[in-house]
Amino acid sequence: MNAAAAKTARPASPGSFLGRAITSSTGMKLVMAITGLGLLGFVIAHVIGNLQVFLGYEGINAYGAFLKGSPGLLWTLRLGTLALFVLHIWAGVRLSRLNHAARPHAYVKKKYRAASWYSRYMLVSGTIVLVFLVFHLLHFTVGTVFPDHFALRDPSGRHDVFAMMLEGFAIPWVVVFYVVAMVLLFFHLGHGIWSATQSLGIWGGRWTPAMMKVGLALAVILAIAYSIIPLGLFAGLVPDYRSEKAASEQQLQQQQN
Ligand code: HEM
Repeated sequence: MNAAAAKTARPASPGSFLGRAITSSTGMKLVMAITGLGLLGFVIAHVIGNLQVFLGYEGINAYGAFLKGSPGLLWTLRLGTLALFVLHIWAGVRLSRLNHAARPHAYVKKKYRAASWYSRYMLVSGTIVLVFLVFHLLHFTVGTVFPDHFALRDPSGRHDVFAMMLEGFAIPWVVVFYVVAMVLLFFHLGHGIWSATQSLGIWGGRWTPAMMKVGLALAVILAIAYSIIPLGLFAGLVPDYRSEKAASEQQLQQQQN
């Protein structure tokens, strides 16, 4: 062994082997796939919860109040989702760096170009979804974007999630922004769901073309289900809750007098 090789050689230990396995390209793909499928579970549950807005204010406000009244559950869900997001982004950035560092020789250039295009496409669509998410949290969870919408209360004194959504999606640019973000989410999920099943080695082989279609179909359903919320509220597809609320507040005032 020459002096330079001796200097760089490290003793093999189980810890460093595990570390190298996890941070290798295959390890990163597994982290991306597992966290991506976890986030897909969140995205499915979240749209089911949000679609309740079409049933009126009671269900969605009661759901919001239940979560806020169960801080243990709320923070477990929040921290779990945050961990999934952080790991997913970390693995995505690292994978793209590894792909970049492993630039091939001319003879495999074609295959490399396709892989590199997909990884860049996932990185760009993922980054735009992340920008949307930051805006979205400031809009609906922190209340910095429209504080007057966030401060609304329903007749039972609960945080008025329903009216907050109705007010927010009465603004055309907000509707356009959400719908564009959902289209980008579709592009990300359209490739991501299939890619995750391949990385995990499930439904590979002869199932591959079918899984591609299943991933695309799920992404289309989710993008439509999410988009009809801002579009439906903007188009007035829910009863005008604000006049209903004003009437019930007036009734309450009359009873008090
Ligand atoms: C049209 C699309 C969407 C609508 C109408 C919507 C609606 C909402 C609403 C109303 C809240 C606040 C819930 C409450 O205060 O009780 C919320 C929170 C949240 N949304 Fe969305 N959402 C949409 C899309 C998304 C997408 C695509 C993601 C993820 C990629 C997402 C991630 C979150 C997260 C992480 C929270 C914070 C939950 C918490 O309070 O801990 N949302 N969303």
